[in-house]
Amino acid sequence: MHGPRRKLKLIVMTIMTAFIFIIVEISRSANQHKNEQKVRIPTKPFWAKLTPNNAFWNRQQQKLDHLNNPILKDPNVTLGVLPDWLNDTVPEDLCKPDLQVMTQVKNFSLLPDRFKHFLLYMRCRTYRMVVDQPQLCKEEPFLLLAIKSLASHFDRRQAIRESWGRGGRLANKTILTIFLLGNTTAEDHFPDLAPMLAYESSMYGDILQWDYRDSFFNLTIKEVLFLEWFSTRCPNASFIFKGDDDVFVNTFLILDFLKGLSPAKARDLFVGDVITNAGPHRDKKVKYYIPESIYVGGYPPYAGGGGYLYSGKVAQRLHGIMNRVPLYPIDDVYTGMCLRKLGLSPEKHKGFRTFGIEEKYRNNPCAYKSLMLVHPRNPQDMIKIWAWLSEPSLNCH
Ligand SMILES: *[C@@H]1O[C@H](CO)[C@@H](O)[C@H](O)[C@H]1NC(C)=O
Ligand SMILES: *[C@@H]1O[C@H](CO)[C@@H](O)[C@H](O)[C@H]1NC(C)=O
Ligand SMILES: *[C@@H]1O[C@H](CO)[C@@H](O)[C@H](O)[C@H]1NC(C)=O
Ligand SMILES: *[C@@H]1O[C@H](CO)[C@@H](O)[C@H](O)[C@H]1NC(C)=O
Ligand SMILES: *[C@@H]1O[C@H](CO)[C@@H](O)[C@H](O)[C@H]1NC(C)=O
Ligand SMILES: *[C@@H]1O[C@H](CO)[C@@H](O)[C@H](O)[C@H]1NC(C)=O
Ligand SMILES: *[C@@H]1O[C@H](CO)[C@@H](O)[C@H](O)[C@H]1NC(C)=O
Repeated sequence: MHGPRRKLKLIVMTIMTAFIFIIVEISRSANQHKNEQKVRIPTKPFWAKLTPNNAFWNRQQQKLDHLNNPILKDPNVTLGVLPDWLNDTVPEDLCKPDLQVMTQVKNFSLLPDRFKHFLLYMRCRTYRMVVDQPQLCKEEPFLLLAIKSLASHFDRRQAIRESWGRGGRLANKTILTIFLLGNTTAEDHFPDLAPMLAYESSMYGDILQWDYRDSFFNLTIKEVLFLEWFSTRCPNASFIFKGDDDVFVNTFLILDFLKGLSPAKARDLFVGDVITNAGPHRDKKVKYYIPESIYVGGYPPYAGGGGYLYSGKVAQRLHGIMNRVPLYPIDDVYTGMCLRKLGLSPEKHKGFRTFGIEEKYRNNPCAYKSLMLVHPRNPQDMIKIWAWLSEPSLNCH
């Protein structure tokens, strides 16, 4: 055959193939409605053989998935035995430094210290509680404000108590505020704050403290310990706001929003400033940097840790699933990973401004009226903005 004729034939064939494809697609989508009830049974195995992931966290997840897979658990299914590359020795005491990571994580010795500290204690999820408030939820709160704070942030906590986190009854609903603290350790050159904290705790009864080093990468520990505390001490709270101690929260608006929810919506609630299609930062200078040797892949949708709102039911489900997700050094991403495991997806609400608001609106009382959360705000701002919002004569129309 001559070159041009061959080319022509090729073109005709391509067009015909495309045409047939289009027809098949159209008839397929036309039939889709009819087929909705029909169950499709795959003719070939639909799982892939588990292959080793080179990133440490991903491999830990592969292991947990394998161990928790109800089908593979059956000892009669030969797949049930962990492949050698996943079957490492589990240390007897999960809270002793796990020295295996030094060889399991590539180039461990070159990692910044915070990663070494994180990896060595990644299996540990239990820390001694130093200050508890066992009776706090005697009267079941409608809304529990759980604020992540650092022991040294006395002024922030006090400003929250005197403003948006006042607690008690607001709009005929019971609100409770608690502050979640780890320990400020000598390792991080903190002065001894224990006596002042003891005084504060006896004065206000709203401090929860555990004995672990309160660092950025340990915020995930704070999340896990909070869920543990919640499920034993306060499981009947209807809703939870969890956030930082440098945000302003419009508690009035949050209550309005919660009171307006349908029962179905209320049950599965998880709203905040949701970030989608994000992934780990690979620039070593960024606070959120994660090396490839630890994690590969994108992040599930997650709500920025500045503050998010969810139901007590979701909190209990998170508590139930959290042991199936290895700790991840960024707490809000970890919570997103747990939600994904539950088949839930956080919802974006434009009232949550974890990245702040425009400068020109900063001193406009009405700007805060329609927002649920603004980050960041210092203690004096909190007092000032709360006074604006509490003013009955504030007219924003
Ligand atoms: C595994 O097989 C044995 C023998 O065939 C049987 O007795 C046992 O019940 C099976 N176990 C499970 C969990 O199915
Ligand atoms: C891991 O390996 C050990 C020894 O090789 C074996 O006894 C054990 O059953 C394995 N564990 C799992 C969960 O497969
Ligand atoms: C380990 O670090 C060395 C030196 O920076 C680098 O050349 C090498 O590619 C690294 N190995 C891995 C597996 O990341
Ligand atoms: C406050 O709530 C109680 C019980 O939840 C209810 O009986 C009462 O009518 C409410 N009062 C107002 C003013 O809404
Ligand atoms: C906290 O850290 C300090 C300093 O490292 C230490 O003395 C103290 O025992 C730790 N625990 C508590 C509960 O303060
Ligand atoms: C987290 O806290 C534990 C217990 O205090 C500590 O051993 C570990 O180094 C901390 N991790 C980080 C990343 O600071
Ligand atoms: C929560 O509510 C259930 C059912 O109403 C009750 O049995 C349980 O004691 C309550 N738990 C707490 C800690 O108040």
